[in-house]
Amino acid sequence: MEKTNIVTEKDIVGKENPYLPSVAIVTQVIEETPNILSIQLELQDPEEKKSFGFKPGQVGQISVFGSGESTFVINSPSSQPETLQFTVMKVGVNTSAISNLSPGERVGIRAPLGNWFPCEQWEQKDILIIGGGIGLAPLRPLIFYILENRDKYGDLTLLYAAKTPEDRCYKYDLEQWEKSGHINLVQTIDTACHGWDQEVGLCPHVLEQLKPSPEDKVAITCGPPIMIKYTLEVLNKLKFKSDMVYTTLERRMKCGVGKCGRCNIGHKFVCVDGPVFSLEELEEIPEPFI
Ligand SMILES: Cc1cc2nc3c(=O)[nH]c(=O)nc-3n(C[C@H](O)[C@H](O)[C@H](O)COP(=O)(O)OP(=O)(O)OC[C@H]3O[C@@H](n4cnc5c(N)ncnc54)[C@H](O)[C@@H]3O)c2cc1C
Ligand code: FES
Repeated sequence: MEKTNIVTEKDIVGKENPYLPSVAIVTQVIEETPNILSIQLELQDPEEKKSFGFKPGQVGQISVFGSGESTFVINSPSSQPETLQFTVMKVGVNTSAISNLSPGERVGIRAPLGNWFPCEQWEQKDILIIGGGIGLAPLRPLIFYILENRDKYGDLTLLYAAKTPEDRCYKYDLEQWEKSGHINLVQTIDTACHGWDQEVGLCPHVLEQLKPSPEDKVAITCGPPIMIKYTLEVLNKLKFKSDMVYTTLERRMKCGVGKCGRCNIGHKFVCVDGPVFSLEELEEIPEPFI
C-alpha cells in the first residue's frame, strides 16, 4: 500500500500559532508567604528549551489543563532561561489550580509575551526600585540583570514594602542582597512588630523620608495599585521627571498578543505595548491607568 504523509497539527499551525501553548514540567514549588507560592518550570521539548529566551519584565500565560490560563511575570534571572520561575497569589480558579501543582506535573505555557524594561537605556544611571508585596516579582529579574551588569550602573537601591515580615516574597534573595553590599536595601512593614529592626510605615511615606535625589536616577515601581498611585505622587513631589519613572501594569489578559482587545488602557494594549510603561507614556493616555 502506498505510504501517505500524515498531516499533524504541528504541520498546520507550526510554531506560528500564538495560542498554542508549549508543555512545561513543574520542577520546584517554593512557599513564599501563606498565600503566595513560586513554581519553577522547564520546557519539555529539549529544542524549545535550548532556544528559549526572555527579557526582564516579560510575562507568560500559564494554563492548567481543565482549569484555565492566566498571566504571570517571569521572575527568574533572564541569564538562566532554562528554568523559569513564576510567583502566584491564590485569588481564583486558575491560581488555585496552580497552587495545587507538584513537581513532575505538566502545564501549558505561552511565553515570552509583552515588552520589557529598557535596561540598556538606563546604563550609567542610578537605579531606584520600589516594590510592594508580590509586586517585587516583575522587579526581581531586573535586579538580577543589574547585579549581573553591576559596573554599567550607578547606585542601586531597593525599597521593599510588605504588610508584615512574613508577607515578604523572596526572603532568600533579600537576605543575600543585603549581605552582598551591591545594593542598598531598605525594607519596611506596615506596623511595628516584635523582632523587626528595619523601617515601619507605608511605602510612599518611607520613600518621602528617604528623599532620593532625582538627579540622573531612574525609578521603577510595582505593587498594589494604591501603592503605585501614592508612590508616583511622591516621586512627582521629589521632582523625578516622568520619562525617568517606570511601572508595570496589570489588566485582565486573554489572548496576550494584541488580538482580543481585553487589556486596553485607552489606545494602549497592556499585552503588547506593556506591561512596562514609562510615566511619560501613561500621562498621554486620557483615561486613568490605576
Ligand atoms: C501583565 C500581568 C502580570 C501579572 N503577573 C502576576 C504575577 O506575577 N503573579 C500573580 O499572582 N498574578 C499576576 N497577575 C494577575 C493574574 O493574572 C491573575 O491573578 C489571574 O489571572 C487570576 O486567575 P484566576 O483564574 O485564579 O482568577 P479568577 O477566578 O478569574 O478571578 C478571581 C479574582 O481575581 C481577579 N482577577 C483575575 N484576573 C486578574 C488580573 N489580571 N488582574 C487583577 N485581578 C484579576 C478577578 O477579578 C477576581 O476578583 C498578572 C496579570 C497581568 C495582566
Ligand atoms: S490580551 Fe488580548 S488584546 Fe491584550
